[in-house]
Amino acid sequence: MLIREQTDHDADDVRGLRKVAFGSTSEDNPLRPGRRGLVAELDGRPAGTLAINEFHQYYGGAPVPLGGIGGVAVDPYARGRGVATGLLDRALTDLREHGQPLSALYATVPALYRSRGWERAGVFEWLDLTVDRVAPGPKLATRPVGEDDLAGLHACYNDVASTVNGLLDRSPPAIDVADVRRLDITSVVPGHDGEVRGYLTAERDREGLRVFDLIGRDAETQLGLLGGLASWGGLLDRLSLRVVDPAVTGLLTNQGIRHTVNTSEWLLRVVDLPAAVAARGWPAARWLRSAAVDLDVVDEHAPWHAGRQRLVVEDGAVRVEPGGSGAVRLHARALGPWFSGMQDSHALRRAGLLTGDAALLDQLVGAPGVPRLADFF
Ligand SMILES: CC(C)(COP(=O)(O)OP(=O)(O)OC[C@H]1O[C@@H](n2cnc3c(N)ncnc32)[C@H](O)[C@@H]1OP(=O)(O)O)[C@@H](O)C(=O)NCCC(=O)NCCS
Repeated sequence: MLIREQTDHDADDVRGLRKVAFGSTSEDNPLRPGRRGLVAELDGRPAGTLAINEFHQYYGGAPVPLGGIGGVAVDPYARGRGVATGLLDRALTDLREHGQPLSALYATVPALYRSRGWERAGVFEWLDLTVDRVAPGPKLATRPVGEDDLAGLHACYNDVASTVNGLLDRSPPAIDVADVRRLDITSVVPGHDGEVRGYLTAERDREGLRVFDLIGRDAETQLGLLGGLASWGGLLDRLSLRVVDPAVTGLLTNQGIRHTVNTSEWLLRVVDLPAAVAARGWPAARWLRSAAVDLDVVDEHAPWHAGRQRLVVEDGAVRVEPGGSGAVRLHARALGPWFSGMQDSHALRRAGLLTGDAALLDQLVGAPGVPRLADFF
């Protein structure tokens, strides 16, 4: 098997592999600015492919370079022979070479990705809202999004996104903010001096209304944009709201005890621990003058960061350097959920992915996870 970089000459083959795997019929060139690809050849012809999108994901307020893997497809005749695994192995070195210390993907087959160190580390959710539960909000002066609004809209999104671990910064070229103008419904709330106070983007289809972004810099703007959705009452019973800002869906909407949330889980892989730690923001480290934890990273697929590493906190900054006693043993799969804050060290230990006292690791990420009750009253 030969694994190589994808070129424009592979466009037809890659589209063919994706059509068979996903039923997709996109005519777009699979390669475009902000996206690269790998191809696996068997007997001289492409038998598998994957794409790597060049994103940045916010952690602790800093955008960390992330390879977003998608479109993993293997020709049915070639499945079960290690083609996808070979592509992932090559992707790990490729990500490191391209300065992407993190990688995320949505997995149809978690076992495949877990075998190479990706692990569940966050959710992507759509909330079903009943239209008659949408409270009328303050009346806002809104207008459709124009060309001149795009920079302000992006800034408004980023001011919110930088405070939510995991959200992308939606920077070009991988993401073009101008694409929002192709949507059916766009609405911007202008602020002072060209600043955007908030905006809403949505698409109407046969199923109903899908609201992609509902973003506001303040509660009045958020409640006003939410209230505007009440105008769909009578025609639609419910609508779907993508969870971007948990303040909107967690604190300002009125869904009842039981409601429907559609969840897609994403898996995260720390490809290069020292680089990922250097790129992340560490707000909690500000309260720690000096501390360290000695790690032993068990990661045969990313040997460059495997073995003894010391995570050092000094004057509010955090770094990883070689050495130390290896007191806390971390499996490659533990790194993603720890880094994202989705799981704390206790859960990682119970899952067999960590041994040793890792209280400092929890303290640093804040390990917020998703708080839950498991009893009804
Ligand atoms: C999923 C897919 C990419 C796997 O490709 P592949 O080349 O057959 O995978 P590999 O041979 O490298 O298999 C690696 C491991 O994953 C497991 N695996 C692969 N496909 C699986 C499936 N559908 N369900 C459960 N396990 C699966 C294999 O059993 C193997 O485990 P093992 O090493 O313990 O035997 C391929 O089946 C495919 O193209 N499916 C359709 C598209 C798709 O679902 N893509 C994934 C998008 S995230």
